[in-house]
Amino acid sequence: MVTINENYLKLKAGYLFPEIARRVNAFAEANPTAQIIRLGIGDVTEPLPAACREAMIRAVEEMGDRASFRGYGPEQGYEWLRQKIAEHDFQARGCAIDASEIFISDGSKCDCGNILDIFGDTNTIAVTDPVYPVYVDTNVMAGHTGPANEAGEYDGLVYLPISAENHFTAQIPQQKVDLIYLCFPNNPTGATATKEHLQAWVDYARQHGSIILFDAAYEAFITDPSLPHSIFELQGARECAIEFRSFSKNAGFTGTRCAFTVVPKSLQATTSDGSCVDLWKLWNRRQSTKFNGVSYIVQRGAEAVYSPDGRVQVEALIRFYMENARIIREQLTNAGLQVYGGVNAPYVWVKTPDALSSWDFFDKLLQSCHVVGTPGSGFGAAGEGYFRISAFNSRENVIQAMERITAKFRA
Ligand code: MLT
Repeated sequence: MVTINENYLKLKAGYLFPEIARRVNAFAEANPTAQIIRLGIGDVTEPLPAACREAMIRAVEEMGDRASFRGYGPEQGYEWLRQKIAEHDFQARGCAIDASEIFISDGSKCDCGNILDIFGDTNTIAVTDPVYPVYVDTNVMAGHTGPANEAGEYDGLVYLPISAENHFTAQIPQQKVDLIYLCFPNNPTGATATKEHLQAWVDYARQHGSIILFDAAYEAFITDPSLPHSIFELQGARECAIEFRSFSKNAGFTGTRCAFTVVPKSLQATTSDGSCVDLWKLWNRRQSTKFNGVSYIVQRGAEAVYSPDGRVQVEALIRFYMENARIIREQLTNAGLQVYGGVNAPYVWVKTPDALSSWDFFDKLLQSCHVVGTPGSGFGAAGEGYFRISAFNSRENVIQAMERITAKFRA
């Protein structure tokens, strides 16, 4: 018989969101008249910006004409999209990122997992707790951990606890770690990092020869002008960081699929005998071998995000979801719940009332309010006693969900 990758057997239960979907579907089947409002997974609900749709329609037309038809594109993405990203997302913020250092992909979830292909198996890996589960699960799948304990913590990973006490920003570790996953604005807590905090991480990474895997998928939701949008705004980050970005949440591309990863050409790591290797070359080689690029049509749609109309439309989308976040924060606070996040991020992180466990609160909200959120413990042991509410939904649903919750908890 063929053998399997036994690391998969170490994974705890299902991936968080399919597990939530399973429970919600069971509830919906048993309660067919319940009007369930889903504020669990951070999936967008509002239509694609008109500028993106129009650009994609034009691209479809081009594909229907022999003269403008396109087959395989560059595995790294089309130059015109990479240029726009470099100018608008990085150079405009003073980051020295060149278009050639940007790799277009079909999602930052995929890239966060795929990036492990270019790293060795003996690195010490640090994650915050709670954390976006993809960072942990992909390391488990790659065999970088031992088994999990009762609390779901995997042997071999360094967990950096984040809580209200440290404003949901991890303390710099005392020990040396090689790879560090940071996510700001943070999924799941909605916390943000100041320039000083990120600079301390960059300084740590440079001092220890570590690499920061910086997930900035939610940077567009930053409203405070003093906060950094990119790790490359910090001095020295070109020598120690890779950044993941996405069009999913800002431009509503969760179903359309387009993202990008920035790997600076100055970033190096070593072989087991100590020789230095450029990580850009390895990622370029990996993508050229295992990936055939994002479709021309979708890349044209993503390019339109940077057009004058596209920028205005994307800003309106962000304002829309952030108004949802404001309503959620305000209503839950009025209901007597303790809330965090939701100011520079589309996620509101709620302390569960009456010391309920995260899953008990999930069941209570589902059964008594028909509202779905995400149990904090699904993001790690330190997420126990918390609950995440996503601001991605229609205004009507958000208001309705908050009315149901406040009626329940004020009573
Ligand atoms: C979430 O709800 O955490 C997000 O949808 C995850 C993702 O973007 O993959």
